[in-house]
Amino acid sequence: MRDDARFAFHDLAPGEESFRDAVWRGLAGPRKAIPCKFLYDERGSELFEQICRLPEYYPTRTEIAILEENADEIAAQMGAHCRIIEFGSGASHKARILLQALDRPAAYVPVDISREHLREAAASLAEDFPDAPVIAVCADYTGPFPLPDLPGPAGKRVGFFPGSSIGNFEPEAAARFLRNYANILGPGGEMLIGVDLKKDPHILDAAYNDRAGITALFNLNLFERINRELDGDLDLDLFEHFAFYSESKGRIEIYIRSLANHQAMIAGRRFRFSAGELIHTEYSYKYSVGEFRELAASAGFRPVDTWIDEGELFSVHYFRLR
Ligand code: AVI
Repeated sequence: MRDDARFAFHDLAPGEESFRDAVWRGLAGPRKAIPCKFLYDERGSELFEQICRLPEYYPTRTEIAILEENADEIAAQMGAHCRIIEFGSGASHKARILLQALDRPAAYVPVDISREHLREAAASLAEDFPDAPVIAVCADYTGPFPLPDLPGPAGKRVGFFPGSSIGNFEPEAAARFLRNYANILGPGGEMLIGVDLKKDPHILDAAYNDRAGITALFNLNLFERINRELDGDLDLDLFEHFAFYSESKGRIEIYIRSLANHQAMIAGRRFRFSAGELIHTEYSYKYSVGEFRELAASAGFRPVDTWIDEGELFSVHYFRLR
């Protein structure tokens, strides 16, 4: 639906996978796992916002500093009249840094599956940047979807995928995700993407095992969500957060660990947990600059530039499609 020239909302009516089916399926096999996208209900998203402000969780503030310090150079790459297409735009916090620096952006296109949050965030951005048309698209961006016509003079189409969310995909899925992004951007498309770097494992361990215990709350909220939404009776005292960095796999692995042999009911089905059993909830892959360039190349992206903070904690890459 087109609202006016400065703000439009296109609802592609994405269907969401049922939480109950994903939980039943994920807890039925010998290696229990629940997809990490289910961590982000209302409470999970609030807790994630708190994680982003933790002293140990360096990615958010480091990426913001990189974007701010290099905003002019990034804006020069993107050129005048560019159209920014952000997948998983959430609150669009980081897009604001770009919009402040860009030369007459022709459109900002936030794409998210969460309809009401998208509507609110996009409307507030349109208020704050009256000269940049905001064209919100509610869609499941993990698969193909049609981009609406973008207004204004034909500048570059630039994907924006900050936050190292690419690290939450396993490498093959990450390559598929980037290929889908490339198809949607089309020939000549470009991409600005934030990627967390490999580093001293102690720094990584601390970032996912913060002293205030917020990451633990975020992870265990998944089981609280099961109790809230799926009539579950999981006893949260019988589980704990467990996260570590695997150097051989180059990833943080996050689990919920059962502390005892016990059973629980979820939406009318019984599940058994044994003492020490791990239920996988998330991976967070870390890449060297070279490794990530290789991954991006497999999706057709050629490196143009990369910005890194002094502490070499985080990278922001600029790619162009071959
Ligand atoms: C969203 N994503 C990039 C976060 C990460 O660091 O992988 C999710 C997260 N999980 C626990 N802490 C942060």
